[in-house]
Amino acid sequence: MPYTMIIALAIHIVSAVIWVGGMFFAYSVLRPSMGTLEQAPDRLRLWRAVFARFFRIVIIEIVLLLGSGYWMVFVEFGGFAGVGLHVHIMNLTGFLMMGLFAHLWFAEWSKFRRFVDDGDFPAAGARLNRIRMIVFTNLWLGWITVVVGATGRYWG
Ligand code: HEM
Repeated sequence: MPYTMIIALAIHIVSAVIWVGGMFFAYSVLRPSMGTLEQAPDRLRLWRAVFARFFRIVIIEIVLLLGSGYWMVFVEFGGFAGVGLHVHIMNLTGFLMMGLFAHLWFAEWSKFRRFVDDGDFPAAGARLNRIRMIVFTNLWLGWITVVVGATGRYWG
């Protein structure tokens, strides 16, 4: 295996771990712990600060996932004709995840941020609920993508 493949795969896996692991932490650890903050505005302000950092990191991970993924497909495997079924599935679920994230970023997050900054907390809470649903969906798509990507060489 050429060392460029190893580097691309390493970048790919670490990016996937940061994105999916970050969503897992937000959804399954931070969200149920938020009740320790009594005031809803405090919780919303904390989510705003958390997401401002995390979503920027996700954009970097998406660029790295796409760059390393297509590097492997086109440079290492000679195009989509040379890859297994698992890579086609990963490509599809990966794009679903990225499409959902684009919607989250452009439609939901920008409004949520503005509502929190303007002190309109009921409206921000409604947006947060939609962000939660998108993150929940992407978390499951992320699990599927990671399992398909990592096990696929044995069946794909
Ligand atoms: C969207 C375009 C994507 C493309 C073109 C792509 C492409 C690839 C390729 C070519 C491999 C190597 C497969 C092999 O060696 O048999 C791979 C592995 C992998 N990919 Fe992707 N991928 C994409 C998105 C994603 C996403 C979004 C995730 C997770 C969030 C992901 C997670 C993984 C994992 C966990 C592996 C397995 C690493 C290993 O154990 O070898 N990929 N991907």
